Amino acid sequence: MALPSDTDLHAAGLAVDLTGPTLTLTLDKPDRRNSQTPRLWHTLAAIGEGLPEEVRVVVVRGAGACFSAGIDTRLLGPEGIEGESSVFELMHGSDDEVLETIDGYQRGFVWLSDPRFVSIAAVHSHAIGAGFQLALACDLRVVADDVAFCMKEPALGLVPDLAGTKALVDLVGYSRALEICATARYVGADEARELGIATAVVPRAELDEATSDLVEALLASNAGAVRETQSLLQGAGRRDLEEQRLAERQAQLRRFRELVGGA
Ligand code: CAA
Repeated sequence: MALPSDTDLHAAGLAVDLTGPTLTLTLDKPDRRNSQTPRLWHTLAAIGEGLPEEVRVVVVRGAGACFSAGIDTRLLGPEGIEGESSVFELMHGSDDEVLETIDGYQRGFVWLSDPRFVSIAAVHSHAIGAGFQLALACDLRVVADDVAFCMKEPALGLVPDLAGTKALVDLVGYSRALEICATARYVGADEARELGIATAVVPRAELDEATSDLVEALLASNAGAVRETQSLLQGAGRRDLEEQRLAERQAQLRRFRELVGGA
């Protein structure tokens, strides 16, 4: 499968740049603070499906004043947006329709943890609701010192349902995750670093450079070894020690075979 066309990307509020093994995906609707819609989520999923084999790093960033203000709030009310499916209407759908539709939305997020590549969210200013969840979908988060994460959904009568609850609990633990979600408060840069949400915190003016440096460092490592290590680490939480040791041995065997085979 190929990447979506420029026309489809533009209609979804996205811009994509593919330079060598790095795909940069920009949320590109700054006038609306990069708010998100079902069309954007479906297009994200299509990018995941059409990702060229050679891509080793995916960077997700936001154009303009902030990373993302979350769902386009017009979709939560009766007015909706022309050409977009409305969450307000979905609320009145059948059980199967609701479950299936949200599954489709979630697919726009979950591909970002595919161990074929490393994903980095470069986050500045607000990352609210779906914006926070998009940042959480990435493997790493480089954040600017003005970052403001917020899981706003419970304040709006909803739950975070774009696959962000698992990543948040994995990063900060159950109690802190509950407190952050249930109060819908803002988490700033220092706390994000302390909690492990931010992989690095840098001055806002240095966000692009810091992200590029990280991309360069990742690309300098052996591609196959990074992929295998990523799979090992991703699965470590659900394996016991014996299973993890076995997974390490099997991964190393594959590395040996590839290194010797390629010699
Ligand atoms: N949806 C649609 N439009 C939005 C938007 C959103 N989420 N956030 C901002 N905008 C629009 C504003 O309406 C405004 O448009 P106009 O210029 O036409 O008036 C423009 O973007 C600029 O907005 P602000 O003037 O408010 O910009 P700011 O920089 O002062 O503040 C902000 C930025 C803190 C993100 C603020 O806009 C804000 O709080 N937005 C709403 C955030 C929100 O509640 N999002 C929903 C989260 S829940 C979710 O995402 C998950 C879910 O499924 C429910």
